Amino acid sequence: MDKLKIVGGKELNGEVSISGAKNAALPILASTLLTDQTMTISNVPHLHDITTTMELLGRMGSDLMLDEKLNIEVTNNNINEFFAPYEMVKTMRASILVLGPLLARFGEADVSLPGGCAIGSRPVDIHISGLAAMGADITVDKGYIKAKAKRLKGAHLILEMVTVTGTENLMMAAVLADGKTTLENAAREPEVVDLAECLIAMGANIQGAGTDTIVIEGVESLHGAQHTILPDRIETGTFLVAVVMAGGKVKIKNTRPKLLDAVLSKLRAAGAQIELEDSSITVTMDLERPRAVDIHTSPFPGFPTDMQAQFTALNCIAEGNSTITETVFENRFMHVQELQRMGANIKLEGNTAICNGVAKLIAAPVMATDLRASASLVLAGLVAEGETIVDRIYHIDRGYETIEEKFRQLGAEINRMPA
Ligand code: EPU
Repeated sequence: MDKLKIVGGKELNGEVSISGAKNAALPILASTLLTDQTMTISNVPHLHDITTTMELLGRMGSDLMLDEKLNIEVTNNNINEFFAPYEMVKTMRASILVLGPLLARFGEADVSLPGGCAIGSRPVDIHISGLAAMGADITVDKGYIKAKAKRLKGAHLILEMVTVTGTENLMMAAVLADGKTTLENAAREPEVVDLAECLIAMGANIQGAGTDTIVIEGVESLHGAQHTILPDRIETGTFLVAVVMAGGKVKIKNTRPKLLDAVLSKLRAAGAQIELEDSSITVTMDLERPRAVDIHTSPFPGFPTDMQAQFTALNCIAEGNSTITETVFENRFMHVQELQRMGANIKLEGNTAICNGVAKLIAAPVMATDLRASASLVLAGLVAEGETIVDRIYHIDRGYETIEEKFRQLGAEINRMPA
């Protein structure tokens, strides 16, 4: 397994370009199953999770091509399997996103239940009950969700919790259903909006994406379209935090500042100077150490759970005390023990981490446990004294495109050590 070797203490300066958003690309690739015509998807990030999704689609009979500009062309006029096996779903929970499209277009889906993961139990009961309310005959048998439906019927669904992939799955199911579907308490994440925009380009009739009530009028069929994936706000946020921790001045390009309000206001409170342009953010950090900031995660437009681990790393070296409360997932603090090994003064009480900032972290061998936890260890390594080795970085490769190259370009000393 590859590792990252990081020698801490370098300021970050220069420019970095943000890739397409993983969590938009995954549902959008799944949405290509809704039409037999060719879809062209641009700005797809080069990530393990994308490769896994392409492999899953390929097994079902998808025809996938990369054109000369690295757009992905997908044609699904020859799907002969409606099956997502456990071996694939267990490596990537987002495989569940094929459930809605398969059922809507082919009337059949056999998708493994994802099971628990490093950040919590993460059930998919809302996906299942929503499809059942739309008329699917759906059972869970031997770890697989088996669903059938002649044609799904529109329904009025009040989602019990705000769920991002749940909203996406039900929205994809509803676009080909008979009649009107209303999703109340829908997720408002920008990735849900990006998916809706792609579906609308394919001929879907969707209103209200980006609010908590999405109304979908089903159509008979969808057609091919071109869609460009929106920039990754979590990758953007990760680079911003890195600069605020390490000091320096960096222009973050090809991003959408408007999607980062909650993160930017915390970074300003931590002492960063932030300048915004339409598609770039310039962050300058002159202070010796950031100021501690309290964090409380919640669904969009609240503070994103996917930025919690990175801000935990920031608070470890900040001046002052802070509390970090995780409300979206029950167990998303695996990074805390690793940060403690680097000298952080942090303890857990239920779903809150209480952090007393220390002047310095000390390099140590640490282990990545999930994607964002891994990112927080890289950030800690960038400011720690000495040489940090981050093990099991396949987690990072699932969600960050060439992270070490992008940081090296900014002046960090970070290298991949192949297994
Ligand atoms: N939940 C249920 N039942 C359901 C669905 C969700 O109880 O049927 C609960 C979950 O257990 C969790 C909460 O609802 O406590 C929210 O989970 P959600 O369904 O919104 O998460 P997700 O859709 O599985 C997506 C992202 C995650 C991100 C969360 C929250 C994708 C592919 N994944 O997951 O991204 O943390 O939303 O914003 O979009 C990451 O990129 O590192 C990552 C984990």
